[in-house]
Amino acid sequence: MSKKYTVTAALIYANGPIHIGHLAGCYVPADIYVRYLRAKGANVAFVSGTDEHGVPITIRAKKEGITPQEVVDKYYTQIKQSFADFGISFDVYSRTSLPVHHSTSQEFFKTIYDKDGFVEETSEQYYDEVAQQFLADRYIVGTCPVCANPNAYGDQCERCGTALSPMELKEPHSTLSGSKPVLKSTKNWYLPLDKMQPDVEKYVGSHTEWKTNVFGQCQSWLKEGLRPRAMTRDLDWGIKVPLADTDGKVLYVWFEAPIGYISATKDWLIQQNGTDAGWESWWKKSDNEETKLIHFIGKDNIVFHCIIFPATLMAMGGEYLLPDNVPANEFMNLEGDKISTSRNWAVWLHEYLEELPDKQDVLRYVLTANAPETKDSEFTWKDFQTRNNSELVAIYGNFVNRAVVLTHKYCNGSVPALGELTDFDRETLASLAELPVKIGDSLENYRFREGLALLMDLARLGNKYLAETQPWQVIKTDAERVNTIMHIALQIAANLAIVSEPFLPFTAEKLRNQLSLSHQQWAEAGRRDLLAEGQAVGEAFLLFEKIEDSVIEKQVQKLHDAKKMNELATKSVPELKPTVQFDDFAKLDLRIGTILEAERVPKSDKLLKFLVDDGFEKRTILSGIAKHFSPEEMIGRQVTFIANLAPRKIMGQESNGMILMAEDRDGSLSLLQPHKEVWSGASIS
Ligand code: MF3
Ligand code: ZN
Repeated sequence: MSKKYTVTAALIYANGPIHIGHLAGCYVPADIYVRYLRAKGANVAFVSGTDEHGVPITIRAKKEGITPQEVVDKYYTQIKQSFADFGISFDVYSRTSLPVHHSTSQEFFKTIYDKDGFVEETSEQYYDEVAQQFLADRYIVGTCPVCANPNAYGDQCERCGTALSPMELKEPHSTLSGSKPVLKSTKNWYLPLDKMQPDVEKYVGSHTEWKTNVFGQCQSWLKEGLRPRAMTRDLDWGIKVPLADTDGKVLYVWFEAPIGYISATKDWLIQQNGTDAGWESWWKKSDNEETKLIHFIGKDNIVFHCIIFPATLMAMGGEYLLPDNVPANEFMNLEGDKISTSRNWAVWLHEYLEELPDKQDVLRYVLTANAPETKDSEFTWKDFQTRNNSELVAIYGNFVNRAVVLTHKYCNGSVPALGELTDFDRETLASLAELPVKIGDSLENYRFREGLALLMDLARLGNKYLAETQPWQVIKTDAERVNTIMHIALQIAANLAIVSEPFLPFTAEKLRNQLSLSHQQWAEAGRRDLLAEGQAVGEAFLLFEKIEDSVIEKQVQKLHDAKKMNELATKSVPELKPTVQFDDFAKLDLRIGTILEAERVPKSDKLLKFLVDDGFEKRTILSGIAKHFSPEEMIGRQVTFIANLAPRKIMGQESNGMILMAEDRDGSLSLLQPHKEVWSGASIS
């Protein structure tokens, strides 16, 4: 039986750019896994694309003031490009707006419908009378009945991961108009997950090997009992329900999006062969071929991939493969805070690629070394710098560089002959044979952090070998021994190139070229004869460069600036105070005065003391604006002040009045000055 792998990476909503959280949670591990499978000679389809329907798209369109179509076109293009530049080696990067996906998901719906796999039900659903629309999915929020999160969406609570429906939310409100929803009756088609529970239970229960975070979540939902779930929505953005009299109804995005993996596979075949012939071999069971289906996703997608999509596939009849594994990761936080697209707290992939060019592998390394495999993890720029400087540069780069430089220095730039071996040589070669096996074992089990740590152990092995054999000393007495040492060091470097391919593909390629290494198969890793005697070794160059403090500081600053900008943009003007009567207003004596003198108040960093000409006399007014204005810049200015405010003592000094200011969005203050100079004491009415 030949082995095929269908590996999917989540179809991300095309409603924003890719950030490091997406990469760490899903795309980097998926790519490592796929590159490893290919190196093993497996037949792989690595499919992904954008999810272009659903409420997240229409919400974004409204926010950006463009059409949903414009939103998905914009982000599809950007996301696809940034993945390509980052070296994520998809076989196809498709999109759910393609005709092949519309027809494939409609066929799925129709097939299940024809098999009586849905339950048709007319029921009361929440409706927003202001927006004149049913409130599905993210159009409605309320309190989660499971974990009491007050911001649970109508289809899922993002805190506990539970799949919800709007009717289960406590205190629901519309995110469209904020209004309180009313009930209105509508017809929808439900997947009877309650009745399918025994089959789902059997399926999930047969996968005790799944990661504990994934298996545990599934078990807890099953324990609560699955509920029927609507597979259609009363919305206009989406794929039309393929039944008569269903105007204004579309397929539920979480029904059709996972089918998008299948459409993406067809899209891939069509692009290559002009026809989708053969797609079944990637998706259906077969007697003469074994295909494994593996979904890489983030933790918020677990319920959909482990329960709802498998149930959909079951409802199609018994012919579809069910996911063999769903190695979902937890979340990665950033500099002490949750990554958030809406709050602009993220490191965006397209910006990273522009600002730190040719450093794809550094980011891949850091995200993998810190991957949220079993619990949430954290990205900091400081850690990024440290891992680059003291791991990639100091261990990996340093070893390769020394091996190559010394080869040029002592062995004319070509692989020298292997002579007699010492015990230490044999020990080193034994470790060299062992490490790739261990790395492979980690990868087979989706333990990417562990695999990467073992890869660094291989680089450490090389460093240790050179440090202990000291060719720079031995050369003085025994050139032949140096040949053996450099031969072994170069074989270690060659092995490093093979096992680095999945993790650090750009570096692996450079290293392969430098060593003129033709071997790339994983099965060859561990061998001590990857490089032939006499083979030329390219000139030395640095695989990794030190990252200076200034680079990191700039990134941290940028992050904080972006967050601040975002906070300002979403800030609203202060609430209006309650109404006052005209008589109350008229009691205030507002005047224009001219500042004659200004000075700081000793021992206070806030207060300025002014001598103001009010038309009658010179009065003293204190004002808490020293952080915004210097005394010098205030002298000679006209200001608006309250002239009949009862005197107040501030820091032992008497203030006779109050200077008025406008506070801007960012908290800065602006003086209220007459638009032309007026006489001091002019009254305001
Ligand atoms: N669009 C979803 C998200 O961004 C993921 C969908 S994955 C698939 O969270 F199953 F629909 F393909
Ligand atoms: Zn919850």
